[in-house]
Amino acid sequence: MLILMVGTGYVGLVTGACFAEMGHTVICLDIDKEKITKLQEGVIPIYEPGLEEIVKRNVKQKRLQFTTDYASALLSTDVCFLAVPTPSQEDGSCDISYIISAATQVASHMQHPMIIVNKSTVPVGTAAKVRSIIEEELKRRGVEITFDVISNPEFLKEGAAVQDCLKPDRIIIGADNPEAAIVLKEIYAPYMINHDKIFIMDTLSAEMTKYAANAMLATRISFMNEMAAICKKVGANINEVRKGIGSDSRIGYSFLYPGMGYGGSCFPKDIRALIAKAKEHHVETQLLQAVETVNNRQKTTLSQTITHYFSKKGGVQGKTIAVWGLSFKPDTDDMREAPSLTFISELLKRGATLRVFDPVAMPNARKMLPDDPHIVWCQDEFDAAKEADGIALLTEWKQFRLVDFKPVRHHMKGAAFFDGRNQYKPLDMKSKGFDYLSIGVPDQMGALNT
Ligand SMILES: NC(=O)c1ccc[n+]([C@@H]2O[C@H](COP(=O)([O-])OP(=O)(O)OC[C@H]3O[C@@H](n4cnc5c(N)ncnc54)[C@H](O)[C@@H]3O)[C@@H](O)[C@H]2O)c1
Repeated sequence: MLILMVGTGYVGLVTGACFAEMGHTVICLDIDKEKITKLQEGVIPIYEPGLEEIVKRNVKQKRLQFTTDYASALLSTDVCFLAVPTPSQEDGSCDISYIISAATQVASHMQHPMIIVNKSTVPVGTAAKVRSIIEEELKRRGVEITFDVISNPEFLKEGAAVQDCLKPDRIIIGADNPEAAIVLKEIYAPYMINHDKIFIMDTLSAEMTKYAANAMLATRISFMNEMAAICKKVGANINEVRKGIGSDSRIGYSFLYPGMGYGGSCFPKDIRALIAKAKEHHVETQLLQAVETVNNRQKTTLSQTITHYFSKKGGVQGKTIAVWGLSFKPDTDDMREAPSLTFISELLKRGATLRVFDPVAMPNARKMLPDDPHIVWCQDEFDAAKEADGIALLTEWKQFRLVDFKPVRHHMKGAAFFDGRNQYKPLDMKSKGFDYLSIGVPDQMGALNT
């Protein structure tokens, strides 16, 4: 079976490479010529642990190829996946123009019966729209070709995408034609050696499942951030509260971490899109709106903590803050809607200088942050901390876990540590001579210890 993956980004490249790893023959197509040329030269355009290895292995074994040419790619394609972007429009609703354009391109070049599978996160009803776009294009061409449209949303997590893809928790197949669903089941059969994880449903429910899953996860994050805000005021410790509630099997430990607010290319836009879809159908979404409001507030929490801390020390204006981590989460170079962007912009506005470092996201961050002399791009976390009045941990990369704080502290001007991810032990940081301020945990003032 020959699989065509239209869109070779985080989802398309990872799922395409994983299909090849499972033995399928895959062509990954993209309209971005530079990206495809890089891939053809063996350069992986994104950072994702384990990806380079499986891409290279499958290219070598001729199961994985890259192209920009729809016509030749569609000559022998059996199943065509769409994994193109679905960003937010200005009103928050989902922009499906990339889907429409990709579906139109497929329809204008397809030569034989085919299954078109939507992997992008799309509003409920998009499969039907894709179907009618393809029908129209085939009619315009004056050809009759049978086809099916399936919804197969993707649940991989950036940073663990290859593992998620090779060992998915579940596969959702939204199919209105049971025969097409059987073909998809065959494609995913190598993933089901242990037990069946496939749920077959109608396309509308499949599309909705993806949004409901992301909304649930975002809700847990905002819930914990709100609990953290209360903890901070009443003197409780959210780290203890998290363990206390996570031990309840009805709640569980996952996604209970307070922090900088959710970011990335999925949760923010998907919550907005779900709110917009509900509005279109006159459904009120108080809960989802609150999730978003809490999240927007959370993105400014740490910069406010910093401003407040320095208000008793001459103000934040002219202070230097080391920023550890820029990507929206560890193990990815993705900077889309990263909380670091809000954090940096808030502190620049207040006259601070930011000495920034991220293990892999610096190139993408440079494209998204202003060219400002108050942003200093550093070599590593130690370089960033030099002469800094304080350090802010924004992304919990593993290399920041076991830092030797003695030389760090020695080269700093000030002694503040602002932990946006609650990575360190407050009393330990205090004993190392830091004023340690984190999320939902009582502050520990240790600067006088040194
Ligand atoms: N990134 C994630 O973690 C993740 C997880 C699950 C679902 N999703 C969803 O998957 C979809 C894709 O997300 P992504 O992060 O992979 O996006 P991405 O921006 O990384 O990649 C999309 C790719 O599609 C290409 N493209 C755009 N129009 C095209 C066209 N007409 N023909 C061929 N290629 C085209 C772009 O050049 C780009 O390389 C989105 O709907 C997203 O919500 C993303």
